[in-house]
Amino acid sequence: MTSILMVCLGNICRSPLAHGILESKLQSDAFYVDSAGTANYHVGDKPDYRSIAVAKSNNIDISQQRGRQFKISDFDTFDYIFVMDQSNFDNVITLARTTQDIAKVKLLLEVDDTIIDKRVPDPYYGDITDFEKVYSLLDDACSALFKSLNKTIQ
Ligand code: 4NP
Repeated sequence: MTSILMVCLGNICRSPLAHGILESKLQSDAFYVDSAGTANYHVGDKPDYRSIAVAKSNNIDISQQRGRQFKISDFDTFDYIFVMDQSNFDNVITLARTTQDIAKVKLLLEVDDTIIDKRVPDPYYGDITDFEKVYSLLDDACSALFKSLNKTIQ
């Protein structure tokens, strides 16, 4: 099984969307997808209502997800750790124990060569259009990731 972790700051806006979108594309027992936040602000919380709404309008249900904080054992559990921005990257790398841990961590948008700005902007203080833009970015990135993951298991 190949396991993929999506990471943002709060685990209520960006990474739950990335989690739900990738899961909806993979639909296979060969993959396990999860998400986490580097901060503990929203542990146990549902995703932000705007992320739930944008996912729902694209026929994806993320309402059952609950926030959790990234933990050091995630380096052992997951093959790939995708972060949304440089700040998430720095926070995760700070917890890495080995060069193998470090090698697992990538900016999610690095999977898509056509995207120039590699940052998934934090929509928390924005409005629904910011969540729609994030959804679109994550959907493109997850499509590119889906293709490359399927190549690695064939
Ligand atoms: P996320 O967005 O990292 O995409 O889940 C945020 C959610 C909550 C907060 C910051 C960012 N917050 O400060 O509570």
